[in-house]
Amino acid sequence: MSTSSSKPERNMYDDFDIEDPSLSTRFEEVMDDLVARCPVAHSRIGAGYSVINRYEDVRQCAMDWQTFSSADGWQLNPPEGTIQILPEDSDPPYHNNWRRVLNPPFSRPAVRKLDAFARKRAGELLDALAPRGECEFVADYAALLPGQILFEQILPVPVDDLPTLFEDIDIFSFGALEDRGPAFARVHAYLDRFLKDRQGQPPKGDLVDKIIAGVELNGDPCPWEDRVYTALDVVFGGLATTTHAMSAAIYHLAAHPDVRRDLLANPEYVTNAVEEVARLYAPVVAPARTVTTEVEIAGVPFKAGDRIALNFASASRDPDACTNPEIFDIRRSEIIHTAFGVGPHRCLGEHLARLEIQITIEEFLKRIPEFSLKPGTQPSYESGQLRAMRDLHLVWDSST
Ligand code: HEM
Repeated sequence: MSTSSSKPERNMYDDFDIEDPSLSTRFEEVMDDLVARCPVAHSRIGAGYSVINRYEDVRQCAMDWQTFSSADGWQLNPPEGTIQILPEDSDPPYHNNWRRVLNPPFSRPAVRKLDAFARKRAGELLDALAPRGECEFVADYAALLPGQILFEQILPVPVDDLPTLFEDIDIFSFGALEDRGPAFARVHAYLDRFLKDRQGQPPKGDLVDKIIAGVELNGDPCPWEDRVYTALDVVFGGLATTTHAMSAAIYHLAAHPDVRRDLLANPEYVTNAVEEVARLYAPVVAPARTVTTEVEIAGVPFKAGDRIALNFASASRDPDACTNPEIFDIRRSEIIHTAFGVGPHRCLGEHLARLEIQITIEEFLKRIPEFSLKPGTQPSYESGQLRAMRDLHLVWDSST
């Protein structure tokens, strides 16, 4: 994007469109160019918005929730009928009330206790794949594991409901655009019913009880709907994001045998590999905020009501935060990135996501140390405010 010959048809500086389909194939190029040349990009789509691209600006905006509010929602141009998710679409103090309820099962020590279970489930999926010599990794593994862990260990739903729930979550995450709204509505209706059913049962001491108990909103109990929106945020926040990150990890190791062999010889670098996956493959690209008062960002004036997006994906590739940011380097001494966000909305599930990505790398390499992309294939992506790998075809020699 930096030379005239490679310049995109669309002017991504003052006619940016985060939903532009070409972004999925030129993602890195566009992100790097925005960091280098365009600290604030402007879009005319919908009501118009600006995108903040450099690390320090993104970090400061994400910390300053008073000036950059989340209350109008994370989507830049939400489709008709979009409903709120909580705590994402809220500000402190209400936001903090929900985080206090949600944080404990996602804390580092709580997540560490899930290691054995997650490894067992990952192993079962991979044991079924290994003798086949090929797979479509997204559908055969990455779309399955995060739900198995979330719904069996943290937000337990009846096992019989899982196939339908998985199907709707899959349609919402990867289906045709027109099918996504109805799939979201079905998961919303399911969670509403599920929470109501559980309300009539004796408490089990899990996160579901805590969500049902709710929190205070301006001194009163919060409305019932907010409890459903909170369950929705946990479900949608945690599945497609981690599916993408796990797929990206295995894609990177398939496409870069040097990194794969380095990791096989030096497994102690796996946690760095996890950070590099999150940093460079960025499942959450750019959530929105609303400006609440007159303010300048990178010298550009904003007024109350303006919509902006914090480009976590580009900020993680800013050379001011990370030396040689385009390189996937498992030997970095310090890995600074914004892949899990910054400030009060920092990802609830970051420790769980890290665990799942790490286990995926370790358990996959244990069973299938040598593998590659299926000849003639490349993964396809969807890029918008979230990024998702839709398919990843792999092959390996299963006869040895
Ligand atoms: C690699 C996987 C993941 C990535 C890259 C990721 C990234 C992020 C980012 C960047 C934010 C901040 C959004 C903002 O500032 O507006 C966020 C928030 C959130 N994430 Fe994650 N996430 C991942 C996995 C998970 C998991 C596993 C869960 C839970 C099961 C989860 C649940 C949430 C929730 C509930 C929020 C909203 C937090 C709040 O508003 O306080 N995420 N995530």
